[in-house]
Amino acid sequence: MTMSVDKKNTSPPVPKRRSFLTKIWFALGIVAFAEFLLGGVSFFVSGRKNNAKDSCAVTIEAGNINDFLPGSVTLIRAGNCYLSRLQDGGLLAISRKCTHLGCAVPFVPERNQFECPCHASIFDNTGNVIKSPAPRALDLFPIHFVHDMIMIDINQPIKRAGFSADQLSYHQKKA
Ligand code: FES
Repeated sequence: MTMSVDKKNTSPPVPKRRSFLTKIWFALGIVAFAEFLLGGVSFFVSGRKNNAKDSCAVTIEAGNINDFLPGSVTLIRAGNCYLSRLQDGGLLAISRKCTHLGCAVPFVPERNQFECPCHASIFDNTGNVIKSPAPRALDLFPIHFVHDMIMIDINQPIKRAGFSADQLSYHQKKA
């Protein structure tokens, strides 16, 4: 006696619900991809705006030349820098940022020098290193004049090994 085997397909038919879910997943994928694209576009647009801002000169008014006496060092808070006027009238716009690890360096008038509170570097009133670990002089910022007004470009720090007389800016050129 032989038994016949029914070879009919016994797997259940694919439900319509499965194709519906596939469509939903496909739609969600498209939405996620669109959000990804929009996020990327807005990232690049905002990045371009910031770059444009960074590449522009940022000039601040430090004050009238007559307000800075020879032999003075004045904090220019808006520029995060000092305006040091030497005895001969020459001006330096000196960064507050220590060249060792970047701490803000206060000026100590009693000793006419900058003293870093972090690792005890000392700089004279031209920003020159008197005591390490600072590896080089404090950075400078370019100065120019609009009539009697001192303008400082705080977006272009100038790195330097040390002070030299050609770094000084004068309101009227020395004869
Ligand atoms: S950060 Fe100024 S001495 Fe180290």
